[in-house]
Amino acid sequence: MTGKTPDPRQPGQTPKRPAAADHHPGDHRATGAVPTSAVPTDNIPADPVPADAGPDDRIGRARHRPEPAAQLKARDIATTGHSWDGIQEYDNPLPRWWLWTFYACILYAILYSIAYPAWPMIDRATRGVLGYSTRDEVRADIAAVEAANAGIKERLVDTDLEQVRGDPELLRFAGSAGASVFRTWCAQCHGAGAAGGPGYPNHLDDDWLWGGDLGAIYASTAHGIRNTTDPDARWSEMPAFGDILDRDQIGALVQHVRAISGQDHDAALAATGAGIYADNCVACHGDAGTGNRDLGAPDLTDAIWLYGGDEAALTETITQSRFGVMPAFNTRLSEADLRAVTVYVHGLGGGE
Ligand code: HEC
Ligand code: HEC
Repeated sequence: MTGKTPDPRQPGQTPKRPAAADHHPGDHRATGAVPTSAVPTDNIPADPVPADAGPDDRIGRARHRPEPAAQLKARDIATTGHSWDGIQEYDNPLPRWWLWTFYACILYAILYSIAYPAWPMIDRATRGVLGYSTRDEVRADIAAVEAANAGIKERLVDTDLEQVRGDPELLRFAGSAGASVFRTWCAQCHGAGAAGGPGYPNHLDDDWLWGGDLGAIYASTAHGIRNTTDPDARWSEMPAFGDILDRDQIGALVQHVRAISGQDHDAALAATGAGIYADNCVACHGDAGTGNRDLGAPDLTDAIWLYGGDEAALTETITQSRFGVMPAFNTRLSEADLRAVTVYVHGLGGGE
């Protein structure tokens, strides 16, 4: 230092920064004061903005200029002791309004956790002195909806299924209630859109294994198919022809089935197959192969396949046979829900 006051207006005479190593945050926490030795005050210009600086320059500089330590000291405001490149942090108290809001929040949280279910315990949360429960609320909502629907459900149960179609109000109710029953109980197997999949029939087409009028759909749904729990379940069993016929005969049958369903086939083999079909298959699938609803035997002449119409699928079906099982729903659904889902499935497009 020469003792000469540096000319603040001279460019390049910016305040010298203290070496970063001298100023680790927290260094001066104990005293709270900023040691003057660490902050060079002697060469801080009184006004480091040159007189000829433009307005932008002035604003920009003023904003980022740290308050000189000497002034800080004079105002006697403690800093946190942190200093980064000469920038220090005031240790001002929190605003009152903020503090009281904070305390109010804590108080609210305590009162809330006493009044309402809050703290998780081993099997459930604390109940809260008000006894409020979201589950009770849901139960009450469900009970209210059920009470509101009780009348129309009763009417659905008392009305002949065929007559439901002539009653617009009942039909609308059954359609929407049936749709939600279907999504809950049937979609897993028949698909959310009821289009089915291999082994699970499509309810959108007008091809039915057991029948597509309201009575048949109701019976399939109420008692199920090939289950052992309901004595009235629909039942039939296609034999596994792998035990009865040899491979060549089954190969010929496959070509015959492809022929009657209008697919590419070997004509000579198909002719052989026709004879084997007549001996083994007509009892269930009919002379022409159009099926038999009393036995749930599919129509083999349409292009709709439950298990598949390609050679591999046909060979497997004939060799091993299939055994589609559907559970009974009369033990799971109320009579009103059974009827509603019947009306819904019937209304999907293929109802007869
Ligand atoms: C566990 C799977 C499964 C569930 C769940 C299921 N089904 Fe089925 N359903 C089947 C199978 C498999 C068949 C075909 C049985 C066969 O091969 O004859 C079938 C057949 C049917 C049929 C006869 C179709 C026809 O062409 O004659 C109707 C109607 C039916 N289901 C309705 C329903 C309804 C309504 C529900 C819901 C309440 C339901 N299913 C739930 C598996 C299921
Ligand atoms: C006792 C009755 C019965 C006899 C006999 C029978 N079937 Fe079947 N067949 C059925 C039934 C029932 C099904 C449906 C099985 C199911 O849904 O799980 C079926 C299904 C099929 C299918 C599947 C159709 C599809 O849509 O995927 C083919 C193919 C078939 N049978 C061919 C034959 C041939 C060929 C013969 C003679 C060698 C024959 N069946 C004999 C009852 C019979």
